[in-house]
Amino acid sequence: MYVRVAILVGSLRADSFNMQLARTICERYRDRMEAEILDIGTLPHFDQDAEQDPPPAVADFKRRIREADGVIIVTPEYNWSVPGVLKNALDWASRVDKVFIGKPVMIAGATPGMLGTVRAQLHLREILSSPGLQARVLPPGGNEVLVSLAPQKFAGGRLVDEATLSFLDGVVDKFIAFIASP
Ligand SMILES: Cc1cc2nc3c(=O)[nH]c(=O)nc-3n(C[C@H](O)[C@H](O)[C@H](O)COP(=O)(O)O)c2cc1C
Repeated sequence: MYVRVAILVGSLRADSFNMQLARTICERYRDRMEAEILDIGTLPHFDQDAEQDPPPAVADFKRRIREADGVIIVTPEYNWSVPGVLKNALDWASRVDKVFIGKPVMIAGATPGMLGTVRAQLHLREILSSPGLQARVLPPGGNEVLVSLAPQKFAGGRLVDEATLSFLDGVVDKFIAFIASP
């Protein structure tokens, strides 16, 4: 099965490990998945007064989410939670046409720290369960892509650690099957 996936990256940093992980995902599974990294850094701050007729960048972002078969969120952990730039994008998506309802979502994250963004991922799962989002998130058991000690695992702008890549292969396989399943 060939799927179309939108990727959201929770870091705007030029050398972001999470962006490197997102690019690795785009390239590595090209035969089965067309993945597009959406630019959430240019979305304006969420404003409830603008939600009925949002700015063009927001309307475009929501359209791309609506048209995707699934979404992969690749994010760092900031202060034990998700970065504001990602929460902002999710807040826009959670209103009016609610483009995440029923949308298959996979979560991944990288950090130089030991805990692989686990706290952010737990928060993110809670956020994605909220009434405005109601995403269909790949269940956590065995599917948590927690890339710890990132400086040792990335080189040349890509994830290169073989054990992590092999684990990622398995999770992406399951995500593609999850998208296909009712
Ligand atoms: C505001 C801020 C808060 C952070 N909080 C955490 C944290 O709670 N847990 C963690 O593992 N790393 C934390 N870090 C370190 C990030 O994991 C690190 O900067 C990482 O490289 C960010 O991801 P990126 O490489 O994709 O930009 C924090 C960094 C910043 C800038």
